[in-house]
Amino acid sequence: MVCKTNDIASKQKAIRELCKQKNAVILAHYYTRPEIQDVADFIGDSLALARQAADTNADVIVMCGVHFMAETCKILSPDKIVLVPDLEAGCSLADSCKAEDLKDFIKEHEGYKVVSYVNTTAAVKALTDVVVTSGNAKKIIDHFPADEKIIFGPDYNLGSYINSVTGRNMLLWHGGCHVHQRFSVEAIVELKEKYPEAITMAHLECKAPVLAIADVKGSTADMLRYAKQSDCSTFIVATEAGILHQMQQQCPEKTFIPVPPEATETIGCHCNECEYMKMNTIDKLLLCLQNNAPEVTVDEPTRAEAAKSIWKMLEWSK
Ligand code: 13P
Ligand code: SF4
Repeated sequence: MVCKTNDIASKQKAIRELCKQKNAVILAHYYTRPEIQDVADFIGDSLALARQAADTNADVIVMCGVHFMAETCKILSPDKIVLVPDLEAGCSLADSCKAEDLKDFIKEHEGYKVVSYVNTTAAVKALTDVVVTSGNAKKIIDHFPADEKIIFGPDYNLGSYINSVTGRNMLLWHGGCHVHQRFSVEAIVELKEKYPEAITMAHLECKAPVLAIADVKGSTADMLRYAKQSDCSTFIVATEAGILHQMQQQCPEKTFIPVPPEATETIGCHCNECEYMKMNTIDKLLLCLQNNAPEVTVDEPTRAEAAKSIWKMLEWSK
């Protein structure tokens, strides 16, 4: 079936029909485009998306997010077909930790447990004892005895934050997300001066000085949850701007102000958007359901090893 119309609503209708025919479920991250979020069966943070992938009865999972999220779906549901609108939708944070480099690092640090952020490849997860997300990192780390020696990677900012709130001294990988590293204290202070009554929310991938001046720090879902239950009406948001769509939909009476990025960035675009997440377009989503492709696969030995560290996370974060 080829969609000849150009309007988004017709494409969304065609997508829903194909989902019904194929018993497919669309999972979308909060950073995807509004029209993708609006057609998805489920929208969530990395933790919630992993839980959905593990629980779904669908035959086909279409992951609108980035590649590591689709790999997580395949790792947890190996018998399902996992599709993505664009195979090239990667993640700078996952790219900052190659499995071969981590393997060498582990060899140099015998006796350490390896804790990896979910923003990693399947090969890295296969080398990992337990995975964390921004939504459960503290809870998972608290599971270990206080004197446990831990390698934490690849997000340096998240690792530093967890060290600071747990009093641990985990060995940190020096990786990061190019979008969250762009947020500066100066830009937030300027907004705070303009909106003195506003609550500032920042994702745990932001730099330490940004987290230090934020009132609320957490995952995307933590921020959304906070905004929904808060009596406050204005929020300064330091994360990828895609989440503002859900915030605005779920709290129509409240005001959300995205933090602009630093203007000094030289790599990629100069905005607070993740170009990888934005590679998920409605046209590519429709095409992928029409063609049952591109499909994400993970070789079985890697999948089986990686699955242990993700299942442990799901167990420990109950
Ligand atoms: P969340 O798990 O908070 O949604 O974060 C995922 C991510 O990629 C943040 O950049
Ligand atoms: Fe990766 Fe950053 Fe994009 Fe999240 S926002 S998917 S960490 S590049």
